Amino acid sequence: MTTSNATRGGVGNARAGANFALIKYWGKADAVLNTPAVGSISITLDTLYTDTEIVFDATLARDELVLNGKRRDEDVDKISACLDLLRKPRGVTTRARVTSRNNFPTGAGLASSASGFAALVRAAEVALGLNLTPRERSIVARQGSGSAARSIFGGFVEMYAGTASDGSDSFAEPLLAADAWPLEVVIAVTAKGEKEIGSRSGMTRSATSSPYYPAWVAGQTADLATARVAIAARDFAALADVAEHNCLKMHAAAMATQPPLVYWNGATVECLHAVRRLRADGVPVFFTIDAGPQVKAVCEPGARSRVEAVLRDVPGVLDLLTSRLGPGAEPT
Ligand code: DP6
Repeated sequence: MTTSNATRGGVGNARAGANFALIKYWGKADAVLNTPAVGSISITLDTLYTDTEIVFDATLARDELVLNGKRRDEDVDKISACLDLLRKPRGVTTRARVTSRNNFPTGAGLASSASGFAALVRAAEVALGLNLTPRERSIVARQGSGSAARSIFGGFVEMYAGTASDGSDSFAEPLLAADAWPLEVVIAVTAKGEKEIGSRSGMTRSATSSPYYPAWVAGQTADLATARVAIAARDFAALADVAEHNCLKMHAAAMATQPPLVYWNGATVECLHAVRRLRADGVPVFFTIDAGPQVKAVCEPGARSRVEAVLRDVPGVLDLLTSRLGPGAEPT
């Protein structure tokens, strides 16, 4: 460690890719530990990422965050709480200046909190001179944002909900390396700007008011098992079926929340139909949608140009982003 590093003004830099869940996390077991009510399975991306620099500076009275060139005082408490998990056990009291940049739209359902907290943990680890295990990184990142526990790792990743009262078994692990099944993702951007109801308050509201929330939780073990087998066998059709089913169940539970959470717009629905038509025509592609209106079409590499051509023509699609599967969070 290195309290001395920190008081000298330790600096760390890291990059972490966004991830999209194929079997989703929606609902918490414990809000303080930020443990999920259900496990999840995701893919980490290579071209959508967050770059973060952290500087521990003894002259600062509190932590500071600059995201995409703007000060974000409203987000500092979450950053401080996550950094305290690394600082407090080591007696570090130095505050930090965090400068982060997403190379993709922030807060629009493109997993910016996942890449953001994964990059923060890796950068802070370097700045403080720590040598955490991958599991420790994932546990700290989880307490920043549940999905961030997965962005610590590359390729296909599974997050365990865990049962321990201290959250020590609630972490992610790699399932399959990115190059072992090199799927690609075409993202149809159907709205820009930050979403109104973030995942955190949305999922909390669903858990307390959606009549479908208990059914959502009850089905997750089976969906995780099906997806695990499909990934191990590189069985695209099986993964497509379970991922779309799981996504629609999450959104059904969200829509039945009071007040309702309808994350989709008209173009979201058109994209969903376009992807289903493509698959019916034999194109290996399926959709997933998170807490926002963007549609993520996951496909085999040979199908990407066809998927792009079809989604580009859907009315209301503003932009397309593409990505391969990528590595875990790493110092830069
Ligand atoms: C719909 O990880 O953003 O993207 O733990 O409260 O920060 P917090 O939530 P967050 O939720 C992600 C929800 C989701 C599905 C998923 O990524 O699994």
